[in-house]
Amino acid sequence: MQMVEKGRLQPGMVLGQDIYNFGHQIVIKKGTVLNDHIINKLQQFSILRVMIEDELISSFQSKKFYRSSYSERVQNSPEFKAFQQNYDREVMEFQRVLNNVIEKNDEIDVEALYCQIIDLLKDTKNSFNAFDMVQNLRRYDDSTYAHSMNVGLLCNVFANWLEFSEEDKKIVTLGGVLHDIGKTRMPLHIIQKPGKLSNEEYRIIKKHTEMGYKILEENCLNYHIRNVALMHHERCDGSGYPNGLKEREIDYFAKVVAIVDVYDAMTSPRVYRGPMCPFDVIDIFVKEGLQKYDSKFIMVFLKRIAESYINERVRLSDGREGKIVYIDGQALARPTIYADEEIIDLRKEKSLYIEEIL
Ligand SMILES: [Fe+2]
Repeated sequence: MQMVEKGRLQPGMVLGQDIYNFGHQIVIKKGTVLNDHIINKLQQFSILRVMIEDELISSFQSKKFYRSSYSERVQNSPEFKAFQQNYDREVMEFQRVLNNVIEKNDEIDVEALYCQIIDLLKDTKNSFNAFDMVQNLRRYDDSTYAHSMNVGLLCNVFANWLEFSEEDKKIVTLGGVLHDIGKTRMPLHIIQKPGKLSNEEYRIIKKHTEMGYKILEENCLNYHIRNVALMHHERCDGSGYPNGLKEREIDYFAKVVAIVDVYDAMTSPRVYRGPMCPFDVIDIFVKEGLQKYDSKFIMVFLKRIAESYINERVRLSDGREGKIVYIDGQALARPTIYADEEIIDLRKEKSLYIEEIL
C-alpha cells in the first residue's frame, strides 16, 4: 500500500481506502479499480493524496476479472444444475462416438447426434437463455469435444434467431458440432499446448479444416456440413484459411458457424479466466472488424445477445447500480442505464463501462 498524490493517479490503480463525502458517506469504495471517470471524481474532493494498493491492474485486466452475480444466479438455478448434468453425459457420449468414428471407422449417426442437442436445449427454454447456460459451463471443460458441443448448441439457437427452416437448422447444428472433427487427427501435444503455438505448429493445426472435410466426406455427410469443416476459419475479407476465400465463395452455413466458433473461443477460459461481460465480447467483435463476418448474420447475433440483457440490473465502473433500459442497434456495447433517477448513456459517457451484471 502506498500514498499517491491525486495528480499522479492512473487508470488501473486500485484504491486502498474508502473515500467519504462531506456528509461522511462512502462515495468510492476501497478496492475500486480507477478509471478516468473515477479519477476525475476524486479530483473534486478536498484530499491531496489517497492510499493505493501496490499491485496495478491494467484497465484490460480489470475487465478480465469481471465478476458476475448474474453468473452465480445462473449457476445456482435448478435449471442450470439439470442442464449441466445432461451436458456432461452428452459430451462423454459425443467423445465416445467420435473416437469410434476415428478408430473403428464407425459411421456418424447424425440423427442421434441431432437428437442429443435438441434434448439438451429443451431444459434451457423457460429460464436463462442457452448462451447464459453455455457460458457458465466453461470453467470446467475446455476440451475440443466440449467446444464442439457448445458450438452445436449455440448454432441451433442462432439458427432460430435467423428463422432458418427446420432442414437448415439441422444442417447448421450438425455443422457446428462437427466443425472441428479434423482436430481428432491432429497431434495431441499441439492441441493441448497451453501457450502460443509456434509458426510450424500453427501451420500443422490449420490442416484440421481439410482433414475434417476428408473425414466427413468418407462418411458421406451432407455437402454443407463438409464445407463447414473446411471453411469455418475462412473470413469474408479473405483473411482466413485454408484458402483465403472471400464472402461469396464461403459456404452460407460455414459463415454462421464461424461467428459462433469465434464467440465460444473468445469466452473460453483458455483466453480469459472466468466469464467475460457480454458487452465486452460484443465490443471485441465490433473492434475485431465486422467485415470479417457476413453482415446479415453478425448483426443479428450481436443484437440478440445484447438485447437479452435489457431490464437486467448492472453495476457500472463508477459503482453506480441501475437497469439497462435501451440499446442502440448502432452501439450495441454501449447501452443506456437508468440509475439513481438519472439516465446514463454509455454512448456519451466514454470512460464508463459495465462492471457487473447483477
Ligand atoms: Fe476450427
